[in-house]
Amino acid sequence: KAVKKLAIIGFGTVGSGVYETLIEQRNKLERLIGGPYSIPVVLVKDASKVRELSDNTEVTDNFQAIIDRKDLDVVVEASPDAEIAYPYVKALLQQGVSVITANKELVAKYGEELLTLARTNHCRLFFEAAVAGGIPILTSIRHTLKSNVLEKVEGILNGTSNFILTKMRKEGTSFETALEEAQAHGYAEAVPDKDVDGWDAYFKTTILSHWIYGVAPNWQTEKPKGVRGVNVNDLLIAETFGGRIKHVASLEKSKDKVSACVEPRFVLSDHALYGVEGVNNGIHVQGNIVGSLLFQGPGAGKFPTASAVVEDLINFWTGTSEEEPVSGIEFEKMILSHSEDDS
Ligand code: NDP
Ligand code: HSE
Repeated sequence: KAVKKLAIIGFGTVGSGVYETLIEQRNKLERLIGGPYSIPVVLVKDASKVRELSDNTEVTDNFQAIIDRKDLDVVVEASPDAEIAYPYVKALLQQGVSVITANKELVAKYGEELLTLARTNHCRLFFEAAVAGGIPILTSIRHTLKSNVLEKVEGILNGTSNFILTKMRKEGTSFETALEEAQAHGYAEAVPDKDVDGWDAYFKTTILSHWIYGVAPNWQTEKPKGVRGVNVNDLLIAETFGGRIKHVASLEKSKDKVSACVEPRFVLSDHALYGVEGVNNGIHVQGNIVGSLLFQGPGAGKFPTASAVVEDLINFWTGTSEEEPVSGIEFEKMILSHSEDDS
């Protein structure tokens, strides 16, 4: 069988996690896809850094080394932000090379354009890892909640913020020390302001709105609110009132509009997100048929995120992923137009 070849852009927490998973789980994954794969090239910022690589992988800081290759099936993209990733991903899709990205900023800012480009060039763009790390939330919504209308979605979508709030409340750790620890674990963004000022959750909420409802959300505040201003005392006072302060992202649909908000919120002990702690993320959806569902699990970190990327990769190689998504609102319109036809 021909060897399937992939490249990886970015070899930090996520890129190296994907690489190690592909090397360590090779036998099982090759059985799943029915043939061998290899990783001939990895793109980084500084090619002179010492890295642990096997598989005869070349490390380069020159994107041309990737784009000039004509033998790549797919590229995994795990660079720090949208501005770095956009030209790479655009050039790859234009050449008909599929991309799997963990970069939520890229997808929130350029997702619509890049998805159109992928369709035009008969390739694919996957981004399960961009929302809620290891939780397969996008795939679950698209594949297993098609017939439900999701009227409300509430989530803890930033692992770093949840880790900080939990650490401060349980151990009295200062905000700065808790953030440093989140960075040491590889949870935080390269610019951690994006985590603690709410932008990371804002990007993920934007993606969820497009994914579920097919529209950009109407933001209730000009900017998202993050956890930077929350102190240990606030967290302890919340406990005396029988609740916790959580960093909550919400989407609510009424008619054709979707309103969105990202902010620290007081939640009581019977709230679905109250028990979502540490680096975990939680997404609570209210389906009109199924009722209340809570998806919970690691929202950041090396292997949880690698898991989401590798699942996309397997779905791509085995062709087990829907080509054309139908959003909730489009789905409702379809149902309405059918019922009008019937009458
Ligand atoms: P890191 O900062 O750990 O790694 C970033 C990597 O990108 C490094 O290898 C760096 O190279 C490389 N890089 C930087 N600039 C360039 C450039 N101009 N061209 C090519 N490569 C470049 O980031 P993470 O792995 O944590 O995050 C990567 C992406 O995944 C981000 O978009 C993030 O939002 C997303 N993500 C992260 C999660 C996590 O838990 N960390 C979870 C889910 C998504 P070098 O090694 O030479 O410095
Ligand atoms: N910095 C992000 C977080 C990584 O802490 O949630 C996962 O997207």
